[in-house]
Amino acid sequence: MEIKKVVVIGSGTMGSGIAAHLCNANIPVTLLDLKTEISEQARDKIYKSRPPLLLDKSKIKNIKVGNILDNFDEVKEADWVVEAVVERIDIKHDIYKKIFKERKKGAIVSSNTSSIPIKILSQHLSEEEKKDFCITHFFNPVRYMGLLEIVKNENNDLDKINSLKAFCETELGKGAIICNDTPGFLGNRIGVFAMQVAMNEAFKMKLSIEEADAIFGRPMGIPKTGVFGLYDLIGIDLMADVLKSFIKELSENDPFQVVAKEIPLVKKLIETGYTGRKGKGGFYRVNKTGEVKVM
Ligand code: NAI
Repeated sequence: MEIKKVVVIGSGTMGSGIAAHLCNANIPVTLLDLKTEISEQARDKIYKSRPPLLLDKSKIKNIKVGNILDNFDEVKEADWVVEAVVERIDIKHDIYKKIFKERKKGAIVSSNTSSIPIKILSQHLSEEEKKDFCITHFFNPVRYMGLLEIVKNENNDLDKINSLKAFCETELGKGAIICNDTPGFLGNRIGVFAMQVAMNEAFKMKLSIEEADAIFGRPMGIPKTGVFGLYDLIGIDLMADVLKSFIKELSENDPFQVVAKEIPLVKKLIETGYTGRKGKGGFYRVNKTGEVKVM
């Protein structure tokens, strides 16, 4: 399989991380979003990021940016189109309709969804289109997280899926695993569950955010950010969306149902724009002097 050009749709946390990672692997990439300014800002962030997302800053010229409406022609030339827009099924469906109308014959189309089952993502695709559609679930931050989940559907051309896996391993340096369409796939089924348990316990024990992160971070294998810091990094709103679509797929008696109940503080943070690092701040807030304040 030859992947010489990739289009990433959605220039947020994940789209920009995926674009930077492809750029490091010398693969030309176009980053699209609703507005050109959003993609431009994403490219700017990639350029200036600390720790650096780009290994060689001069390669930034290999990332083209634009808005999806005026630059949809880019999709026609891509060997792989990665959808990394918000976790909204209606928006994703709409985008697939457009991509499949324009894409190059045989080009791979994948979603970076963290929680929507592939049977739902692909429900409006034809049998032929499904052959080239899968989930490629990169983890955040893309440059540093080794795992990549590839979720297949029942119509996939398995040779193609295996080639994509090989490409992601050799060219992108990922530890790629092929998963079935189970709720939360593998990483999130374990990881999100553990994070929710830790959050519930922290509130029950009346720990401060800092205390909780100091206690739970290291044993859970997230010593740098801890649990709450990771919520801020991932996006508190996104985690809430993930939980909602995740629990819909589980049985009523699944222990996750109790753990995943909405927490009032989380609801309040989302409603007031404290969605994490991408918003006004999150559990950890950054004040004007850049100092981190804990709630
Ligand atoms: P985000 O909110 O940071 O970025 C989403 C971007 O999509 C925004 O820039 C928004 O303007 C754009 N967008 C919305 N509608 C669009 C449309 N119709 N056309 C083009 N662009 C559009 O979201 P994030 O966190 O990057 O998540 C993207 C996907 O990756 C989601 O499916 C999420 O579940 C998944 N994911 C997120 C992870 C995380 O840690 N944030 C980790 C792994 C997967």
